[in-house]
Amino acid sequence: MKRELAGAAKDLAAYLKSQDEDLAEVPRGAAARPAGKSPATKAASPARPIPAPAPAHVPVEPADMDSLSEKVRNCRKCGLGHARLNAVFGVGSPKAKVVFVGEGPGFQEDHKGEPFVGRSGQLLDKILETVLGLKRSEVYIANIVKCHPMKNPETPEAHGNDRPPTPEEISACRPYLDEQLRAIRPACIVTLGSVATKVLLGTDKGISLVRGRAYDYPVELFGPGHPIKVIPTYHPAALLRNPNLKRDTWEDMKLLKSFLETGKI
Ligand code: URA
Repeated sequence: MKRELAGAAKDLAAYLKSQDEDLAEVPRGAAARPAGKSPATKAASPARPIPAPAPAHVPVEPADMDSLSEKVRNCRKCGLGHARLNAVFGVGSPKAKVVFVGEGPGFQEDHKGEPFVGRSGQLLDKILETVLGLKRSEVYIANIVKCHPMKNPETPEAHGNDRPPTPEEISACRPYLDEQLRAIRPACIVTLGSVATKVLLGTDKGISLVRGRAYDYPVELFGPGHPIKVIPTYHPAALLRNPNLKRDTWEDMKLLKSFLETGKI
């Protein structure tokens, strides 16, 4: 009996260790290719300096969203975890067909613990509603990094304190997003802006060169032959700065709408 119990405890410890290692994995490797194209045709250039996604690997049982969210709330893998007011895990339907991915939380998001709640978020909600006829509760919204990157981490209450996440912060946080995607099993990811696009497609090209078409997500979360499509578009903050970008964004959202309606892209 004692020996059986000891064996079971050993198995449990090994299992828990493997779960932690999976989350701690630092993604690197494959670059994205346009949807339906072979790797030999139009592979994007590898990312520099933003870390590229992990190479395809065998999917594990998806973590449940509550325990994953708890893990993110307790995460201290990089400095952002010490300075943030709130971790910003993600929001929306855990069964969403489409996941929108931004760069990282800003001031408002840090205060509320929810992604895209500032001016960019209001514009994102408007795009969802007017072009796609969807509410934020019907899609899923998340970020590449889950905590607010600040120029001065000592002053989380200060405005104008935002900065882009560093490659190290992105690498530390990236496995959480893949775990979220594994759990949600979306058909499509929309990357909002250059940072999310570079990280998730493993490219160093800017958003204006990459948008306008769909790609296969380079990480095969559900095994070979079941790619998630990626549609890159402009970040809503870029549209606020330059309304001329709205026309292209509308085109990208129409591509998404057609994919959601027909399953074809
Ligand atoms: N910008 C982002 O990229 N993400 C947010 O959550 C808010 C603003």
